Amino acid sequence: MEIRALSVIGAGQMGSGIAQTAAQSGLVVTLYDSHPEAAKRGQALIFENLTRSAAKGRITKEAMDRAFAQIRLITDLEEARDSDMVIEAAPEDKGIKRSIFQELDRICLPSAILATNTSSLSITEIAGATRRPERVIGMHFMNPVPVMPLVEIIRGLATSGEVLNSVQSLAQAMGKTPVEVSDFPGFVSNRILMPMINEAIYAVYEGVASPEAVDQVMKLGMNHPMGPLALADFIGLDTCLAIMETLHEGFGDSKYRPCPLLRQYVRGGWLGRKAGRGFFAYD
Ligand code: CAA
Repeated sequence: MEIRALSVIGAGQMGSGIAQTAAQSGLVVTLYDSHPEAAKRGQALIFENLTRSAAKGRITKEAMDRAFAQIRLITDLEEARDSDMVIEAAPEDKGIKRSIFQELDRICLPSAILATNTSSLSITEIAGATRRPERVIGMHFMNPVPVMPLVEIIRGLATSGEVLNSVQSLAQAMGKTPVEVSDFPGFVSNRILMPMINEAIYAVYEGVASPEAVDQVMKLGMNHPMGPLALADFIGLDTCLAIMETLHEGFGDSKYRPCPLLRQYVRGGWLGRKAGRGFFAYD
């Protein structure tokens, strides 16, 4: 099945990045957010990214204008009804995602594929909110979406082979490399990345080193492009905590216990870059 019309639900950093990348690969995109101001902010971010790419000569001015014109903001989810496929990129909360999938199942064509960009939750459980679990799949992009080549593809218990093939082809058409992994908490990416971030937070919590020193060790010693704490701020500390909780609950193993300092920062609204403050301060 060829996918030409795509709806993206959620216009935060992931949703706007997915919408931009899809539009740049020629798809017609509708972008929805339950908060209209967030949709406007997502659109502005896309414009900024495309403008920077054009200024750096990575894309032509025409390609930039074409991609931007391919993205239409919608304020009513019902307008997603004619899409061949929907990618949901809402907050990492099972209840929110399941209710969006229930709505999408009612609104969308029976042939439509419903994908979730969840970074840790069970695809099978999200699919269970619909009457079409065979057409539900996980499509986990990395941040920043326009730059990172990986997409984890996760089949739920009932996902059909035809849907898997279509979504793998779509990822490739978007210039990404799809890697299929199984439906386990955190998949592969966050099963490995998040405990590393959590451990970096424990190192600060236990007074082993300052946030600056922890990040320097990992950047200069392990060649990571960003230190784990700068990366946590970039991902969002609320998302990091939600993923750790999914790992902790899903595996029932204390090695996944979220660091109390991470909880404290989230309680205080220090959510990282988007809040202007996390392990580091941002303007
Ligand atoms: N959107 C689009 N493009 C961006 C961007 C953004 N938000 N941020 C940077 N870029 C582009 C820049 O324009 C630049 O492009 P050119 O080289 O063509 O000029 C390129 O990326 C490099 O950017 P910079 O020179 O500004 O900075 P950098 O070299 O430090 O790279 C980075 C920035 C790509 C973000 C790099 O630091 C990096 O790879 N960091 C790690 C990112 C990572 O680990 N992501 C995964 C997070 S985990 C996740 O997403 C999964 C999850 O579920 C939590």
